Amino acid sequence: MMRFEKLAKHLIAKNKLSIDNLISIDDLSLNDIEKIFEVTDFFKEYFVRGKNKKCSLLKGTSIINFFFEESTRTRTSFELAGKHLGSDTINMSGKNTSMEKKGETLIDTAQTINALQADLIILRHGKAGTPKLIAGEIDAPVINAGDGWNEHPTQALIDAYTVKKEFGSLKGKNIVIVGDVLHSRVAGSLIRILKKTGANVTISGPKTMMPEKVEEVFDVKIEYDFDKAVENKDVLYSLRLQHERGAQGYFPSLREYAKRYVINEDRLNKAAKDAIVMHPGPVNREIDIRTEVLEGDRSRVFEMVENGLHLRLALLSLLVRT
Ligand code: NCD
Repeated sequence: MMRFEKLAKHLIAKNKLSIDNLISIDDLSLNDIEKIFEVTDFFKEYFVRGKNKKCSLLKGTSIINFFFEESTRTRTSFELAGKHLGSDTINMSGKNTSMEKKGETLIDTAQTINALQADLIILRHGKAGTPKLIAGEIDAPVINAGDGWNEHPTQALIDAYTVKKEFGSLKGKNIVIVGDVLHSRVAGSLIRILKKTGANVTISGPKTMMPEKVEEVFDVKIEYDFDKAVENKDVLYSLRLQHERGAQGYFPSLREYAKRYVINEDRLNKAAKDAIVMHPGPVNREIDIRTEVLEGDRSRVFEMVENGLHLRLALLSLLVRT
């Protein structure tokens, strides 16, 4: 572990990012993205696969995981990453705070957290813009772990990292994103990072779920017919239907939706020869992806979760000021 820590400290110092907070993919330069990936590779190689998962890189610091919306993967991987790095990591569920129960304002809550002198805040909130607002009120760095329909930058970093591991580069790769683009913060960040890294992006799904002017704003292609959209693509990326954001009001029935947009073997066979299937989770089986594909050898869904831990180890070690 001692040798590991020496190497890690050297690598972290060498890869200092240009940002203090991670709110949007727009905040990151290409260089920042490469640095994050380099440190992620390091953790993948030397750390979690080893026997000893615990080190003291962030010893003496504290991290608050502040989640106003449900989460399995994001919250646990941030919590585990903080703990593996030796930081005191606590979880706060928005539901039990004075803000939700006693009417304390968001700004007052932010100032209270600030007074506790946490060294980093990870924030998930149902309203777009909340992480940015909080970051303006407190001294500690803030990581956006998903804000409403807006962005989920750490998920997009995991996605881009997974594609890069698979194909060596993102440049020129053909990716189709299918589903509830309108309500998906994952899509918001994913499209941004894919365009930034030079991939070709097509989006598919019901017309009612396409954000207005998405083609011009993000320079992506739209192909409503998913059977055509999959042709020769390197990556088929499915988004979860956001039921909690009223998604079911946008198409006639779930059965109809699944028939048109599920990733099944037929559609996978129309994609490029070594295409992979991705999804940020949680997956609605048989609606987003058929079980045989989800559990098949082209699926990278579980690898994405593993990469999520490594990437969050990298991000915390790069953003916490020690
Ligand atoms: C996503 C989220 O909550 O934004 N989950 C995740 O972090 N992997 C995606 C989703 O819930 O659909």
